[in-house]
Order: sequence, then C-alpha cells, then structure tokens
Amino acid sequence: MSEMLDLIKKRRSIRKYTDEPVSDEEIRTMLEAAMAAPSANNSQPWEFVVVRDADLRRQLAQTHPWSGMCAGAPVVFVVCAHESRSSHWVEDASAATENLLLAAAGLDLGAVWVGIYPNQEREAHVRKVLGIPDDVRVLCLVPVGHPAESKPPRTQYDPQKVHYDGY
Ligand SMILES: Cc1cc2nc3c(=O)[nH]c(=O)nc-3n(C[C@H](O)[C@H](O)[C@H](O)COP(=O)(O)O)c2cc1C
Repeated sequence: MSEMLDLIKKRRSIRKYTDEPVSDEEIRTMLEAAMAAPSANNSQPWEFVVVRDADLRRQLAQTHPWSGMCAGAPVVFVVCAHESRSSHWVEDASAATENLLLAAAGLDLGAVWVGIYPNQEREAHVRKVLGIPDDVRVLCLVPVGHPAESKPPRTQYDPQKVHYDGY
C-alpha cells in the first residue's frame, strides 16, 4: 500500500527527456495499466495511438503552445475513445490516462498529460496528422521518455478542501 501511495506522489509532469528509447515491453506495460482502468458499464471505449515516428511527433508538437515536448519524447501516446460507446468517454479515457501516467512513473519514465479535449481545433489537428476517424474522439497526448529533469514527489493535500458530513 505504501509503495502505491509513494508512486502516486512520485508522478509529476516531466517535460524533458533523454534520447534513450522506450522499449516495446515498457510501452506494453503502460498500455496494460491504461486498459486496467475503470470505465462506465465496463464499456472500455478507449483506443490508443502509439506514435514513435519523429516527423509525426513533430507535427503533434505543433498542436498548441503547450504540446512542444511531443517532439523530444521517444514515444507519444494519443488517448482516444469511441464517443458512441459511452456517454462517459471523457471520464473513462481520463482514468486510463492517469493509469498510464502512474505506470510511466513506476517504470522510472517521465510523462505529461497534454490536453486536447475539449478544444475542437486541437482535436482536428491531431485527427488529421494521425488519420483518426471522425467518430473517435481525442482526449489527450501523453509524451513519454527517460527523464532529463527531476521533480520531487509530493501531495498537494489541503485540509481546507475536505468537508466532513456535509460541505
Ligand atoms: C486535463 C489536463 C491538461 C493538461 N494539459 C497540459 C498541456 O497541454 N501541457 C502541459 O505541459 N501540461 C499539461 N498538463 C499538466 C499540468 O500542467 C500538471 O499536471 C500540473 O501543473 C500539476 O503538476 P504535476 O503533474 O507535476 O503534479 C495538463 C494536465 C491535465 C490534467
């Protein structure tokens, strides 16, 4: 239990990466964690595009002003979902994304959630770059690599945000 709590605190947004590749086994481990997430009615509406091609990563980096780190990460996961399979696709894909981020931290890799949804222009850009069908929504990008920066583990626990037995 304490190891799991340590991992949750260890997960930080890492935006700088070394050139060391991320192995197929590590990619598989992160995808297994993502797909272990809860989803409404267990609908599992998610789909993942694994982007290793440098030119495609450069195009993803141009999605918006805060997505530039996609160019420098050896792999970018694009977290998508079938909107028609779940009215809770955003929550389902978000749960999968958090699991992916935690798995990356557990593998001593660095990662960051790069938001796409709910911005339609940004979603259209990612859709065009990767040929994602119109009925598949894009939640976020997750660049992953070996960390070239370090951040301390932390909680952001704030007792003022906790309400017992009523607000
Ligand atoms: C929905 C969402 C969208 C985010 N979008 C971006 C983004 O586009 N670019 C970025 O660098 N970080 C993005 N982040 C990461 C946050 O900036 C980061 O989680 C926050 O500053 C807290 O830092 P920590 O992750 O190290 O705890 C996003 C996080 C979430 C949950």
